[in-house]
Amino acid sequence: MKFAILGTGIMGRGWITQCAMSGHEVHCYDANAKTLSGTVTGCEKLAATVAKKFKYEDANFVSNVTEKIFIHNEKSAFIAAARGCDVFLEVIYEDLKLKCSVLAEFLPQLPESVVFWSNSSSLDIDPMAQAGGRPERSIVTHGMNPVPLMPGVEVVPGAKTSAETIEFTRQTLLGMKKAPFLAPNIPGFWVNRLLVPQMLDAVRLLEQGKITVEDGDTGLNTSLGHPQGTFKLHDFVTAPTMLRVALQMYQSSNDPRMYPPLTLMRMVKDGEYGASSGKGFYDWSDPRNPKARDVSRYVIGSVEEMLEQLK
Ligand SMILES: NC(=O)c1ccc[n+]([C@@H]2O[C@H](COP(=O)([O-])OP(=O)(O)OC[C@H]3O[C@@H](n4cnc5c(N)ncnc54)[C@H](O)[C@@H]3O)[C@@H](O)[C@H]2O)c1
Repeated sequence: MKFAILGTGIMGRGWITQCAMSGHEVHCYDANAKTLSGTVTGCEKLAATVAKKFKYEDANFVSNVTEKIFIHNEKSAFIAAARGCDVFLEVIYEDLKLKCSVLAEFLPQLPESVVFWSNSSSLDIDPMAQAGGRPERSIVTHGMNPVPLMPGVEVVPGAKTSAETIEFTRQTLLGMKKAPFLAPNIPGFWVNRLLVPQMLDAVRLLEQGKITVEDGDTGLNTSLGHPQGTFKLHDFVTAPTMLRVALQMYQSSNDPRMYPPLTLMRMVKDGEYGASSGKGFYDWSDPRNPKARDVSRYVIGSVEEMLEQLK
């Protein structure tokens, strides 16, 4: 099969590697030339991690992956290649308006037969399906980070998604050794509907001085089996993506628990994005051994402390 993937950031690279590992040809484009030019190297690294983790002995595994990847520096060349693809997968910023305007531009230029997948982690599929003009062949396939290592894929049909599209999507994902599961088209779907309020609560408790980065993560890791805890997960997702997801979930649900804590906004403003920028809740100078940072400047204090100060 052939895939066209729009957006080659963290998740785009995960999907590109996954598709190429599964023997599919992948055509890619990103509006950011620097991100686009680092895509093959990023996928190479991911493929090497997969080979190490699963003890693959094929010495050509990584080169077999990269030779399936086609980078298009011009948008027009990408669209021309996407015309011959089976699936068009968007993996751009979590911003409904942006996604809709981009889909309204790209999808009408592709044959009707091309199935549209969105890697959105929280957004309503229906406006995207409408904007792209092929609602029967539009569906969310929310992969988890890092895609080649995490089997779960949340499959979210829209109001008009056809049974054929759901089945095609399920079978294609199973063929890639993924574990697709159906989830509802509500803000955050299933996984982030539960996870995002928990992650935001963790930051609020940190702000109140109730928990530290280290203890918080150790607690979740050793008590609930969360491999990274919550603050490390924030750092992998990145602060801007967390902020976008929280804001969009708040906008669509009006649920105050989704409103992003001030700390998240400050971290974005300060460029403390997480693992990718080297600093977040952890210092990632040595990526194998991240160290919890002193985030005391973000601590507003507990109610007791604030009341004390008012005396
Ligand atoms: N980060 C995560 O852990 C995670 C997990 C699951 C799902 N997601 C979802 O995946 C999607 C992408 O997230 P990400 O973490 O890869 O973000 P990212 O910021 O790493 O990558 C997004 C990419 O989209 C590109 N882009 C933006 N506008 C574009 C346009 N008009 N045309 C072409 N390219 C454009 C950017 O240049 C950037 O490289 C979002 O919908 C997000 O919610 C993220």
